[in-house]
Amino acid sequence: MNHMSARYSRITGTGSFLPPNRLTNQDLADRLAADGIETSDEWIVERTGIRARHFAAADVAASDLALEAAKRALEAAKLEASSIDLIIVATSTPDMVFPSVACLVQQKLEVQGCPAFDVQAVCSGFVYALSVADSMIRTGSASKALVIGAEVFSRILDFKDRTTCVLFGDGAGAVVLEASGKPGILASELHADGRHVGILCVPGSVSGGKVVGDPLLKMDGQAVFKLAVGVLEDVARSVLAKADRTDADIDWLIPHQANIRIMQSTAKKLKLPMGKVIVTVDEHGNTSAASIPLALDDAVRKGKIKQGDTVLLEGVGGGFTWGAVLLDL
Ligand code: UT7
Repeated sequence: MNHMSARYSRITGTGSFLPPNRLTNQDLADRLAADGIETSDEWIVERTGIRARHFAAADVAASDLALEAAKRALEAAKLEASSIDLIIVATSTPDMVFPSVACLVQQKLEVQGCPAFDVQAVCSGFVYALSVADSMIRTGSASKALVIGAEVFSRILDFKDRTTCVLFGDGAGAVVLEASGKPGILASELHADGRHVGILCVPGSVSGGKVVGDPLLKMDGQAVFKLAVGVLEDVARSVLAKADRTDADIDWLIPHQANIRIMQSTAKKLKLPMGKVIVTVDEHGNTSAASIPLALDDAVRKGKIKQGDTVLLEGVGGGFTWGAVLLDL
């Protein structure tokens, strides 16, 4: 490469994996009813757009889901694992306290030497990880990165709390991001506001061989909803301005898949018809850091998103964190 030429990053392959156990809303309602907790398919569909989610088997961890998604992304990019020189995994449900899921994926791919680390930004994790990988590629410290979002949120759900346990699912999505003379990633922006740590959290920790505090997910759904709708519009406008583009240039919006009503509201504010919004929340539920790469891969494999399309990815979640990446595929 000419030293004077600009260096960008571009997605050259996508992959995803869902554990086979699919639970419909009715399956979940039946399970909760056994504990005297009432919910219904009707309530879940109307308030969230979710119809089903996948739960991993007890012996399957985030790194197992991540590995399958990574293999598919590598295959799509026509790359051997040995050519990868950076692995970043976005997750809030790692296999163990340490080492990172990224190192476990590296072990399972049988590669050595390249940097591998996890990013913890809950549902904004994939956007964070993609932005970090893009920076590392543009500055020359990596050339071929695997960027993965992988979660087993079923492990941290409180099945006695109907306001949260019906919302989440397990899965993984991955992309291969390669150095390129033309973008690729056009602009990205990340944010956090730690004043809101309490509205979405898993407050437990491990100490002295025991779990200390509550290791199950807590969420003030309405507070998250209100914050999400505001920041998603702002960050979308900000990345578009950075890339010198407008909302009319967006071919596809891939928002974090948490709630169809948040997606509808964002689309409306950006004057995008719902036909330009990739929706997988109906079949996946909220898979946190995995939701965006899962939706991206689903849309690419269905032939909706094509080479050359302009795509806006938007994440929002616990922290409170949010961010966006604008890219040409
Ligand atoms: O991934 C990070 C991002 N997370 C999110 O984006 C989540 C954002 N928040 C939301 O998606 C929504 O706030 C929820 C889907 C969590 C809740 O929807 P809502 O329209 O805000 O409902 P609500 O909390 O106001 O609850 C309405 C009613 C309540 O009953 P009362 O108090 O009106 O009698 C709840 O107890 O619905 C009841 N309810 C349920 N009923 C049946 C709550 N959960 C359920 C349930 N089944 N699963």
